[in-house]
Amino acid sequence: MQYKNTIQFSKDGQAVFEKVISIWPPIIRERRKEKILLMLSLLMQSRKETRADKALVIEATRLVVPKSYDPLFHMIEDMEAFKRKMLDPFQDIKAYNKIPVQVKRWKRDGGKKSKRAGTLKKVIAFCASPRKNGNTDLLMEEALKGAHDSGAQTEKIMLQKIKIGYCIGCRKCKEPDYNRVCILKDDMSEVYQKIIDADALMIGFPIYTGRECAQLCTFLDRWDGYERYMLKSSLKPGRVAMVIGTWGYPYIDTYDHVIESVVSTLNLHKVETVEALSACGFEGILHGLDENHRGVIAKFPKQLKKAYDAGKALVKHGS
Ligand SMILES: Cc1cc2nc3c(=O)[nH]c(=O)nc-3n(C[C@H](O)[C@H](O)[C@H](O)COP(=O)(O)O)c2cc1C
Repeated sequence: MQYKNTIQFSKDGQAVFEKVISIWPPIIRERRKEKILLMLSLLMQSRKETRADKALVIEATRLVVPKSYDPLFHMIEDMEAFKRKMLDPFQDIKAYNKIPVQVKRWKRDGGKKSKRAGTLKKVIAFCASPRKNGNTDLLMEEALKGAHDSGAQTEKIMLQKIKIGYCIGCRKCKEPDYNRVCILKDDMSEVYQKIIDADALMIGFPIYTGRECAQLCTFLDRWDGYERYMLKSSLKPGRVAMVIGTWGYPYIDTYDHVIESVVSTLNLHKVETVEALSACGFEGILHGLDENHRGVIAKFPKQLKKAYDAGKALVKHGS
């Protein structure tokens, strides 16, 4: 393509481009390279730039690859700052105690009121983190307190503590005369009914290996049983949800795309997410815990309050 041969790099721009491209295996390298070059060419045209320098190459690459590549760019941009913020907390308790723990409450613009607005009575929470009193769990507890103080009846289920098998792909649930949700006999039978009976759901999960943890994937795969013959859903619309995602890397937007993906999956099942929280900074020498093995989020009451407020708003949503 034409733009490939016309891009002129500065010396540092060329070096960063080659470094970035070299991290991917050849089977995806060319595809990524094409996209980055196209993005570079568009940026250069719109800004009337004649050379692609380091900053421009980084900007173009960031527009092409998922945000989970943040650590790579932070390393390239300022290795000293990366070391201070990310590596030192793995070696030094003082640096660990300085990790900028942050909670972000997502803004919800517009959208219709849920049919059950103002009348939410039952909130059921599913914590996908295996760590009781970890950061996800503590944020969920706080959100549930908020929901309770707004008048809702609340219940929390730790996915790790119940028996949920993997979906086995038998597709029995798609047969026209099948009248259960799923053929598997495990704790999901009870959970399916609890979801049907709930007005609002809360789903909390940690990021493992750059995506939602396996407990959540296994759980959400099993929701496919609600989808019946000819894509008819047995889960009626009207439920609302809160999604909470937590992670180690101390930047608050790095895994937004994973939160978006969980919100989209719920949307497939006609559950509208009306509240979402991200929380970050849970890595380092004590792996996001304090000296008493509780999530360090407990030391950040102002951040925790955002979960409480969101829990209250979930129940009052639209009223
Ligand atoms: C197996 C595993 C993989 C992880 N991968 C990532 C990761 O890719 N990116 C990240 O920022 N944090 C990662 N973390 C850190 C967790 O997301 C973080 O500690 C999380 O907040 C833990 O939640 P909890 O305190 O509720 O258990 C990982 C943790 C584990 C155990």
